[in-house]
Amino acid sequence: MSHLLSLTRAARLVGVNRVELQKKMKSGELIAFDGMVAFRDLLACYPDAQLEDISEYERVMQIKERAFGKRVFEHVLPDAEVLATRITDLSKRLTRSETQIRQFNALLGRVWDKFRETEKQGAGEAGATLSALRHWLEDEVAQAMEPGFTNPLAIKDGVLSVLSAQVTLLPSKQDFLVEGQATLLEAALRAGVSLNYGCSGGNCGLCKGRVVSGQVKKMRHHDYPLSETEKAQGVVLLCSNTAVSDVVIEAAVTDGVQDIPFQQISANLKAKASLNDEVILMHLQTPRSQRLRFLAGQRVVLKVGASYTAELPIASCPCDDRNLLFHVHRQPGNLFSDYVFDKLKNNEVVGVEGPQGEFILHEQSGRPLFFFAFDGGFAPIKSLIEHAMSLEAESIHLHWIGSTRQQIYLPNVGRAWDDALDTFDYTELVIDSDLRAMNAKRETQLHEYLALASKQQDELMQGDIYLAGPEEAVAAAERFFLALGLSKSRVFVEAVK
Ligand code: FES
Repeated sequence: MSHLLSLTRAARLVGVNRVELQKKMKSGELIAFDGMVAFRDLLACYPDAQLEDISEYERVMQIKERAFGKRVFEHVLPDAEVLATRITDLSKRLTRSETQIRQFNALLGRVWDKFRETEKQGAGEAGATLSALRHWLEDEVAQAMEPGFTNPLAIKDGVLSVLSAQVTLLPSKQDFLVEGQATLLEAALRAGVSLNYGCSGGNCGLCKGRVVSGQVKKMRHHDYPLSETEKAQGVVLLCSNTAVSDVVIEAAVTDGVQDIPFQQISANLKAKASLNDEVILMHLQTPRSQRLRFLAGQRVVLKVGASYTAELPIASCPCDDRNLLFHVHRQPGNLFSDYVFDKLKNNEVVGVEGPQGEFILHEQSGRPLFFFAFDGGFAPIKSLIEHAMSLEAESIHLHWIGSTRQQIYLPNVGRAWDDALDTFDYTELVIDSDLRAMNAKRETQLHEYLALASKQQDELMQGDIYLAGPEEAVAAAERFFLALGLSKSRVFVEAVK
């Protein structure tokens, strides 16, 4: 059997996402062996795959790059020593193959000699049969040795194995690629894998993992002392090491919000941008050594100025735990909002405490995802969607319902995702009435829209529903979906002030 590839690697080679390959496996179009695929079968499924084919993968990366900020997807080459080791490994494999071919050729020479000797000794019909067999074999071998078709995927895999390494986690069996100079922890977060960790800076020891096979390399100094026994067992800190070769690592992943510790961080305002007259995008950056660990969809308490506070959902993804985005709405008379709109300056310190909240993605469900954002409810929904995209969710639908046009303050984000991804669709609706003040008439109007959306999207009854926005609006929407027959365990609600 030819060399087997993991789904992550195979998807990268043919430039599609893992969901597409999974669908082909389910339909029997692509043969899989224990979740792995062979080059030959992959190429049979994607006969036009080319060395430079990166279409779907690259499109998703571009979206993520725009959405998550530059730091996360800096395309840099791996560390020189890592590159040298990978190239050395590749050239060892090449040398081994060349040696085997030479030995094989020598063996063939001896086989032909033996044949001729036996032919001479054989009489009549037996000698003729042997001679015919030898000629046939010689022709077959000559044909097989001719430099003909070269599998482009095998060449590309060689390049990929120099530029990246695959990590498989045990016991969760999640896998991801480590690229550039990312540490194992950074690469996991980018891929939406919630590894256990604390400081990200080599101080707490919470990111310990045991290398079961493969080679890792320490990239960053860590103060946390590993005992001699741990070192002998192959324990490393995932925030300080990168993968040199494909590795298998035993490491704990987050089970839920209970695994995330309460944190207090002094961040700085990196940038402030007006999205319209009513909403400001606030970009906070934490110190390198103290990043915020959180799950997509959670919120934190922010403190500015003379301790003006607000509890706000994080509008970015845990894949970038240092750059935190918030949507601050103008609320005249609210000291926090007034301060952010009128006084907050670049580099000013903003206290961050948390995270809290249980409005998180239920990753294991595998069901289609339906997000309904009402006004400022887009902030936690955006975080959830970015996380779902990191996990390559199969089907994502976003409805943004605004009291006014102003309340749909980032329409281009949803439209860009819709344009770029086949697995994503976006709808927006301006309802022209205040979603924070529901009455019977407004609730009927909202229910009519939700009924229309449910009719148009027959997948909805099989999906998970995420609702975020003003308390009155999400409560009304929740009543609608429960009345429709959806189980409470599939409707998730977040009230955003
Ligand atoms: S996260 Fe704290 S030592 Fe790695």
